[in-house]
Amino acid sequence: MALVLGIESSCDETAAALVDSDRRIVAQRIASQDADHAPYGGVVPEIAARAHAERLAPMIEGVLSDAGVTLAECDAIAATAGPGLIGGVMVGLVTAKALAMASDTPLIAINHLEGHALSPRLADPRIAFPYALLLVSGGHCQILRVDGVGQYRRFATTIDDALGEAFDKTAKILGLGFPGGPAVEQAAKEGDPKAVPLPRPMVGSGEPHFSFAGLKSAVLRAHDSGKYGAADIAASFQQAAVDCVTDRLHIALSRMDDVDTLVVAGGVAANATVRAALETLAQDHSMLFAAPPPKLCTDNAAMIAWAGIERLAMPTFAPDPLDISARPRWPLDPGAEPVRGAGVKA
Ligand code: KG4
Ligand code: ZN
Repeated sequence: MALVLGIESSCDETAAALVDSDRRIVAQRIASQDADHAPYGGVVPEIAARAHAERLAPMIEGVLSDAGVTLAECDAIAATAGPGLIGGVMVGLVTAKALAMASDTPLIAINHLEGHALSPRLADPRIAFPYALLLVSGGHCQILRVDGVGQYRRFATTIDDALGEAFDKTAKILGLGFPGGPAVEQAAKEGDPKAVPLPRPMVGSGEPHFSFAGLKSAVLRAHDSGKYGAADIAASFQQAAVDCVTDRLHIALSRMDDVDTLVVAGGVAANATVRAALETLAQDHSMLFAAPPPKLCTDNAAMIAWAGIERLAMPTFAPDPLDISARPRWPLDPGAEPVRGAGVKA
């Protein structure tokens, strides 16, 4: 039985967790910085890094004491080493290095996206490799084939905004507050998804890539027209987003014939309408569908600890060196061809 301490600090959640190889989340704590960033309508990197620096060490102490274990009893310390806001990533990684050195415990530098990608396996022991993964968060929107730990092939990415970003921008336009995804989902419950005609960018395109910038502009125009209420716009936006996702996945899945499992991960996977649409799509493709519980979809340290457990179990496992760097960009599939029109997102 292995026990791993996980540390997450790549965006605006400070988190620590202890997870064991029996898929038990032995202890976890998470501090959201929503209130710190809300006045600015988005995450301010400097504020995020300072908050991580203040909160992380006491939080790790708290998680260890909740579980009644010492660092020496952990088989490894796994910390997000990228991609993300570099100041925050450095706080988490340097903390992990210091703890690893002081307790003579192996350090494992985790790719945050790998944390999301493997999180369905923490939640559900049925999920075996290979599986198709829709990774939808605030910074990423990708379809990947996961063949094993560290083995990712990207089939699609966004040429502009990520899906979570589109939810956040829609929330901002509609004055629903920050963070936007849950606010849009809530508002949409009172609205008619057919009320506002909105585009479905990329739908019908032969390549499975995403684009959401045009959808966001159409939301802005619908709002500025004064013809529609916020709930109808939110519901229509959410439906358009879901239609884009299912159409794009349909194309990607047709290129993964031997894969019989579809999983969704990342913050947007917490959205019930998205989950329901994916479940139907998986049924249509005769695939097993799995989505982690919403708390494991948004950023957390349990998924980072679990990625550490998965790495530890590999026959080729070696701890990461103490001079390993924090990485603002770190694609899961470094060999993926750049997509025309794609911005900075990995
Ligand atoms: O994975 P995550 O916590 O952080 C990143 O790695 O980006 O994802 C955050 C993103 C945000 O854009 C947030 O608005 C979105 O996930 N999100 C949602 C929901 N909960 C979080 N989007 C739609 N519906 C939700 N319920
Ligand atoms: Zn994330």
